[in-house]
Amino acid sequence: MKPRILVTQSIPEEGLAVLRKGGEVAFCPHHERPPTREELLGEVKAADALLCLLTDTIDSELLEAAPRLTIISNMAVGYNNIDVAAATARRIPVTNTPGVLTETTADLTWALLMGVARRIVEGDRYVRAGSFKVWKPTLLLGSDVHGKTLGVIGMGRIGVAVARRARGFSMTILYHNRRRVEASLEAEISARFVSLERLLRSSDFVTIHAPLTTETRYLIGAKELALMKPTAYLVNTARGPLVDEDALVESLRGGRLAGAALDVYEKEPALATGLAELENVVLTPHIGSASWETRGRMALMAAENIVAALGGKRPPNLVNPEVYP
Ligand code: GLV
Repeated sequence: MKPRILVTQSIPEEGLAVLRKGGEVAFCPHHERPPTREELLGEVKAADALLCLLTDTIDSELLEAAPRLTIISNMAVGYNNIDVAAATARRIPVTNTPGVLTETTADLTWALLMGVARRIVEGDRYVRAGSFKVWKPTLLLGSDVHGKTLGVIGMGRIGVAVARRARGFSMTILYHNRRRVEASLEAEISARFVSLERLLRSSDFVTIHAPLTTETRYLIGAKELALMKPTAYLVNTARGPLVDEDALVESLRGGRLAGAALDVYEKEPALATGLAELENVVLTPHIGSASWETRGRMALMAAENIVAALGGKRPPNLVNPEVYP
């Protein structure tokens, strides 16, 4: 009998084509939206493999309901939606899709940074509303980006890709990370390692690229926001709960921060009260990796991880290698 591969929502064909070679592909009932908890708990019962997304919570209860599961493949680089320890305890490999979305997410980070600094979305709203009747020297003034200081929190693959782009804007680059990166990489991207406090105090743009863990939750709260310059901007394309969103709204409202650009939200897809009413924010719906090319590559990678595991091989993008002796 062919193994049953449960895919929680529609994914690009690049991935489905590979999955079909590895088994029988099944979808949750309404595969154009995330399954409800009940739907997912019901569907995993018969699944040998699970291709899930960042909207699916994979915890002990779900694993309990999935006695046949032999692989959990997340189509995302972040895997905070999965209780990896619980999967490891059941010797179930968990995989993610690292590398393929690095440059695309760095591109979006820059689009947001430029968008909020130069008030692109406000400008778009202004023109569409028919308000552009006459050019004025004081119309929609924003902040320069070139020559400013960029603070990168989290200097992993995506942080590095963002920093590389900053060199084209002649920016000073500061970074903070759990540990310092190789000196050769620091030299290549001209980035200086500083404390989080120093980064927040000195940067004109702060961009977050850290993973969400119990240690990094609320990495940026009221205290940290208060350290930032009132002329500075915060950009988050990593995970929402890294930032205390209510505290961010307070800072923006009080004029203690110039603006923010967010692709991710603390209680996604819900927004903190007042966030959407602010003019000095740019908000996108978690589309960091959302290019045709990259989503295709992510789907393919997630599928290849499943096919490898079902074929008795060690999947290439394991996040819990300890499940293999
Ligand atoms: C997207 O947020 C990802 O983690 O891939």
